[in-house]
Amino acid sequence: MMKQIEIRYATDADAVSLSKLIQRTILASNSKDYSHESLDLLCSIYGPEQVAERIKNEHILLCFEGVNPIGAAGLRGDYLRSVFVEPFHQGQGLGKLLVGEIEEIARQKSVSCLMVHSSITARRFYRALGFNVVKYQSSPEGPTILMSKSLS
Ligand SMILES: CC(C)(COP(=O)(O)OP(=O)(O)OC[C@H]1O[C@@H](n2cnc3c(N)ncnc32)[C@H](O)[C@@H]1OP(=O)(O)O)[C@@H](O)C(=O)NCCC(=O)NCCS
Repeated sequence: MMKQIEIRYATDADAVSLSKLIQRTILASNSKDYSHESLDLLCSIYGPEQVAERIKNEHILLCFEGVNPIGAAGLRGDYLRSVFVEPFHQGQGLGKLLVGEIEEIARQKSVSCLMVHSSITARRFYRALGFNVVKYQSSPEGPTILMSKSLS
C-alpha cells in the first residue's frame, strides 16, 4: 500500500535528486522505445545543471514518499514538461495526480489549451488523461508526439 505522499514545488536544492530520478526513469522506462543515442542525449538534457535551470524556468511539482522525489511534472507557458514517475512507483496514479495538479495551475494562469511533447512511451498515458494527438515530430532526441488538451 502507498505511504503518505507529499507534493510541493521543486527548489534549487532538489536539482541533483530530480536529475537522478529523471535519468533513472529514462534508462528504465524509455529504453524500449528509443535508441541508445537518444537515451544518452535525453540523459544529458536532464543533467543536474540542466535540471537546475528548469527549476528556475518552470513550475515543477515533485511528489515524495519519504525524503526522495518519486515523481515530477512541470509547466512552462502552455506546455506540460518534465513528467516522470520512478519506475517502481509507476501505475499507481502518481502521474495522473501530478498532471491534474499542473492542469489546475495552468487553469489559474488562464491557459486554455495545455500542450505536451509526449514521448512514444507516454502516449497512452496522455490519451488516458484526455490529451489528443496534434502531430508526430522528430528531434535529435528521437521521435515525440505533440499532444493537446483543452482546459476550458
Ligand atoms: C508516463 C508516466 C509519467 C505515467 O505515470 P504513472 O504514474 O505510471 O501513470 P498513472 O498510474 O498515473 O496512470 C494514469 C492513467 O494512464 C494510464 N496509463 C499509464 N501508462 C500507460 C501505458 N503505458 N499504457 C496504457 N495506459 C497507461 C493508466 O492506466 C491510468 O489510467 P486510468 O486513469 O484510466 O486508470 C510514467 O510511466 C513515466 O515516467 N514514463 C517514462 C517517462 C516518460 O516517458 N515521461 C513522459 C515524458 S513526455
